[in-house]
Amino acid sequence: MLVPLFFIISLVLTLDLLQLPCCSGLQKAFCILDNVTANSLLQKHDTDNTSIEEMKNTLLPYISPDGSPEPFIPFLAPSPLPPFVNNTNPKLSGSCILNFTAVGSLMRTTSVDCYASFAPLLANVICCPQLHATLAILLGKSSKRTGMLALDSSHANYCLSDFQKILASQGASYMLEEICSVHPSNLSEGSCPVSNIDGVESAIDSPKLLAACKTVDPVNECCRKRCQNAILDAAGRLAMRGGGSLRVEITINVAEKAAIVDDCKSIILRWLSCRLDTLPAAQLLRRVSNCDVNGVCPLVFPETTAVAKDCGNEIENYSACCKAMNSYITHLQKQSFITNLQAVGCAAYLGLQLQKVNVSKNVYRFCQITLKDFSLQVAS
Ligand SMILES: *[C@@H]1O[C@H](CO)[C@@H](O)[C@H](O)[C@H]1NC(C)=O
Ligand SMILES: *[C@@H]1O[C@H](CO)[C@@H](O)[C@H](O)[C@H]1NC(C)=O
Ligand SMILES: *[C@@H]1O[C@H](CO)[C@@H](O)[C@H](O)[C@H]1NC(C)=O
Ligand SMILES: *[C@@H]1O[C@H](CO)[C@@H](O)[C@H](O)[C@H]1NC(C)=O
Ligand SMILES: *[C@@H]1O[C@H](CO)[C@@H](O)[C@H](O)[C@H]1NC(C)=O
Ligand SMILES: *[C@@H]1O[C@H](CO)[C@@H](O)[C@H](O)[C@H]1NC(C)=O
Ligand SMILES: *[C@@H]1O[C@H](CO)[C@@H](O)[C@H](O)[C@H]1NC(C)=O
Repeated sequence: MLVPLFFIISLVLTLDLLQLPCCSGLQKAFCILDNVTANSLLQKHDTDNTSIEEMKNTLLPYISPDGSPEPFIPFLAPSPLPPFVNNTNPKLSGSCILNFTAVGSLMRTTSVDCYASFAPLLANVICCPQLHATLAILLGKSSKRTGMLALDSSHANYCLSDFQKILASQGASYMLEEICSVHPSNLSEGSCPVSNIDGVESAIDSPKLLAACKTVDPVNECCRKRCQNAILDAAGRLAMRGGGSLRVEITINVAEKAAIVDDCKSIILRWLSCRLDTLPAAQLLRRVSNCDVNGVCPLVFPETTAVAKDCGNEIENYSACCKAMNSYITHLQKQSFITNLQAVGCAAYLGLQLQKVNVSKNVYRFCQITLKDFSLQVAS
């Protein structure tokens, strides 16, 4: 019964709970991680545990308290083969107007990322961001022909179902709609008042948006948010195209307004996907969503005094230090279920906290604390 735990959808979390100074060593590490993840995901990779185990092993030294900058880039190396799947011909509705062929290779990558037995485990980190990006690009590409960046509800139903069938025929989980909480409404315009290309282009400063998002720097985007801010700005402009009168502005509450801007953000992403080639569009969407995924560690960290006492400065008694660490980690584990990259964020955050109290040895390594200890759903 793991699946519901993954519904903590990371895309909506934009708070940077880590509050690291921008582009500090660790933040940079995450940004590089973005780069590696974003790049490797554009290629096919296998779905056994090896790469994940390798990733854990390679990352841990880097994010541990001693901050040793060991090389960790190759952990998700562009990988071997996609899993063997028995391609079957899915029975499509015949009523979907989207051009699936136009994003065929992206859909194959998505199928691998959302490979059936793997999808729930890496939902927020790999599968769902890729799925959302693919949907946005599919809608964006199809809008070239129709002029529309959203589907009406009956088409949305057919298209989402066909989309899911094609992915499943290539080995993806049959449960993606549940796992990634995608509904037909996510293919519509939602509450955004503008959903056609002309309308969008008359509302926003399109050259400015394109310039900011044409190439997204994986290292700097999470910190500087150049493209993300441009997207938000454009979404805000679309949102205001709605009931533009002052009375509506006043009566609408903050939550409603945020929901409208959010829906308009989807429209903007589709518009960008329409204007950009598939590869840069996929990179853009993945890199932007990676910033959200990585920034969030949902755990509350208690005082590190006990650990500092036993592990700080020169460690006198290693078994006492590890005892203190283990009891601290056990305390963290009671709190929450988190995803793998969130676990990386949490491990790094704790590493930073420990550094501050003069724990400078790699206690993760010699106390054999691994990312599994931070991400309970893997262990249970
Ligand atoms: C990010 O990935 C690109 C493409 O693989 C590479 O050329 C670039 O050097 C990487 N940047 C960093 C900072 O790792
Ligand atoms: C994944 O790892 C677990 C133990 O860590 C092992 O039991 C399982 O067989 C592995 N699965 C694959 C596909 O390698
Ligand atoms: C692939 O599909 C064919 C036809 O449906 C079936 O006979 C075959 O056993 C399948 N192979 C695997 C490995 O599932
Ligand atoms: C769908 O996309 C493919 C590949 O880009 C293209 O060859 C085909 O003409 C498109 N079909 C329609 C109906 O636009
Ligand atoms: C899809 O739409 C529902 C509401 O209709 C929303 O709760 C959910 O967050 C959306 N999912 C995505 C991935 O945008
Ligand atoms: C080290 O700590 C352990 C556990 O707290 C304790 O049992 C042991 O006596 C200590 N050893 C020394 C040399 O102080
Ligand atoms: C950490 O170490 C430095 C120098 O060794 C010392 O000045 C500082 O007080 C220590 N901080 C704590 C919290 O122990």
